[in-house]
Amino acid sequence: MSNHLMNTYARQPVSFVKGQGALLHDKDGKHYLDAISGIAVCSLGHAHPAISEAICEQSQTLIHTSNLYQIDKQQQLADKLCALSGMQQAFFCNSGAEANETAIKIARKYANQKGISNPKIIVMENSFHGRTLATLSATGNAKVHEGFFPLVQGFVRVPFDNVEAIKTLENDADIVAILVEPVQGEGGVHVPKAGYLTALREICDRNNWLLMLDEIQAGVGRTGKWFAFQHETIKPDVMSLAKALGNGVPIGASLVSGAAAGILVPGNHGTTFGGNPLACAAALAVINTLEVHNYVEHVAIKGQQLLNKFKDALAGTDNVVDIRGKGYMIGIQLKQPCGELVAKALARGVLINVTRGDTIRLLPTFVMTQEQTETLVTVVAELVKEFAQTNA
Ligand SMILES: Cc1ncc(COP(=O)(O)O)c(C=O)c1O
Repeated sequence: MSNHLMNTYARQPVSFVKGQGALLHDKDGKHYLDAISGIAVCSLGHAHPAISEAICEQSQTLIHTSNLYQIDKQQQLADKLCALSGMQQAFFCNSGAEANETAIKIARKYANQKGISNPKIIVMENSFHGRTLATLSATGNAKVHEGFFPLVQGFVRVPFDNVEAIKTLENDADIVAILVEPVQGEGGVHVPKAGYLTALREICDRNNWLLMLDEIQAGVGRTGKWFAFQHETIKPDVMSLAKALGNGVPIGASLVSGAAAGILVPGNHGTTFGGNPLACAAALAVINTLEVHNYVEHVAIKGQQLLNKFKDALAGTDNVVDIRGKGYMIGIQLKQPCGELVAKALARGVLINVTRGDTIRLLPTFVMTQEQTETLVTVVAELVKEFAQTNA
């Protein structure tokens, strides 16, 4: 192992040399079922021919020109994302944190226009929004803050899925926006009660606040809708996307609508790489592939089935606190910290993740076959049961 990498990750002792569909292969030829998709990125699996072809073709034509010029593919991608979401405009960047930074800047500029000099954004406990200074400050996890004080000011924190807590802030004239994940991912896969986003929309409308949804993990089909807010009949003012949008080619997007549209003007914001022809060609191919194969509907149906399979397989296992999720975003919460299960699953050829210490998080690829689904359920259920016995 190189000593020249910064020590920022606790990595598993495996390196993959190639992938195909829902499988990854290591140097020794062992294959692994990928049930984490590069943390909700490679939804279409690995080496998907349509994505590879789009990347190859674009790289042989034009990779980058900069935002000093018109970029046709960027305009096509903005049109497509707006058509799918009902949003009005898009700004393209390179990661989730950057998409959320854009959202936070939009909220600040919106406040500025209203003459509010110390604006506040309501954010949630247990949330995750990224690792830049503003996005880590918005994040509701003390471990992410540790060592980086002073944090960026202007965030007010309330419990997730608690409308009443937000209502108590309605008379604070400095509040300008709510930033929330429609399903919390890193925080342990928490799906709010039906009607939560609708209630937040109403509160935002009543107070002229922006409703800003972080769909970086939950968006682009992952929950069985193109965007998780579409499980309700509302529309946000700002939506952040990244992760699955490029199936591994880095791209983020900030989409705006209503009061948030038109806030950023030349000179306010920018990025060198954001929305370059290569990234946009990949994202267009991702969306086209999702559409052509009806993957979003597939995830809605298969996700519910997968959740039920886990509930059946783990029924009566007494260290299971909860099995929850939406689409292909599933959390199995145990009574004890269970980080050791990641290495145990790896040894059995399955890639899983544990988040918040006690929750197995599964974010499978949309291309996982029925047989692979059975393998996933069998291996994870066995691991959880063995773990229950050794921790009884
Ligand atoms: C909900 C959410 N927001 C933001 C981010 C940050 O995205 P990135 O790592 O691309 O900066 C993540 C990453 O896990 C995320 O899950």
